[in-house]
Amino acid sequence: MRISDHNRKDSHPNSADLSFYAASQADSDLLLTWANDPGVRAASGDRPPIQYAEHEKWLEGILQDPHSRLMMVRQAHAVVGVVRIIHAVEYHEISWTVAPEFRGRGIGCKMVAMVTAELSGPLRATVEKSNAASIKVAQAAGFELYQDKENVLFYRRN
Ligand SMILES: CC(C)(COP(=O)(O)OP(=O)(O)OC[C@H]1O[C@@H](n2cnc3c(N)ncnc32)[C@H](O)[C@@H]1OP(=O)(O)O)[C@@H](O)C(=O)NCCC(=O)NCCS
Repeated sequence: MRISDHNRKDSHPNSADLSFYAASQADSDLLLTWANDPGVRAASGDRPPIQYAEHEKWLEGILQDPHSRLMMVRQAHAVVGVVRIIHAVEYHEISWTVAPEFRGRGIGCKMVAMVTAELSGPLRATVEKSNAASIKVAQAAGFELYQDKENVLFYRRN
């Protein structure tokens, strides 16, 4: 995938120079920390914190699943986020997280735009209605709203 070699400049100075690598077991602790960040729990419907064993099982499943990819995002020497891609039959389902300490610098918009620019075929994403930042990330990547159901917004890009 060409995004691993990307090194584009962007108008937002703090979102420049992102690169990507495929997640491995070595990223497990970081991913669990992010998954249990209060902002992420709120964005996923305020579910209770994920336990370590449950997380390990989830990660192992994803890493072994040929239809799933977890792209870790690096900026300089820091790992700043993750983009998850599930290759379904008719579309790719995309979700994303930026590390709490790196939010608000344009990284979310930039990383999702970069990953989705490399994918061919229709894309889907779901976002909680209250998640203003994530709505902007989806819009910036060219997604359009096609369904608004209870607290969830459904986005697509054809
Ligand atoms: C959603 C998330 C990925 C955004 O990442 P980010 O790097 O902070 O986003 P950006 O800096 O690219 O900002 C995106 C836009 O949202 C705006 N924004 C950022 N934080 C915001 C907030 N708390 N409220 C409203 N708008 C916000 C920014 O101003 C920017 O808008 P602009 O493009 O008009 O300037 C990040 O907040 C996150 O990981 N949250 C927890 C997990 C999550 O919600 N995942 C998404 C599930 S679908």
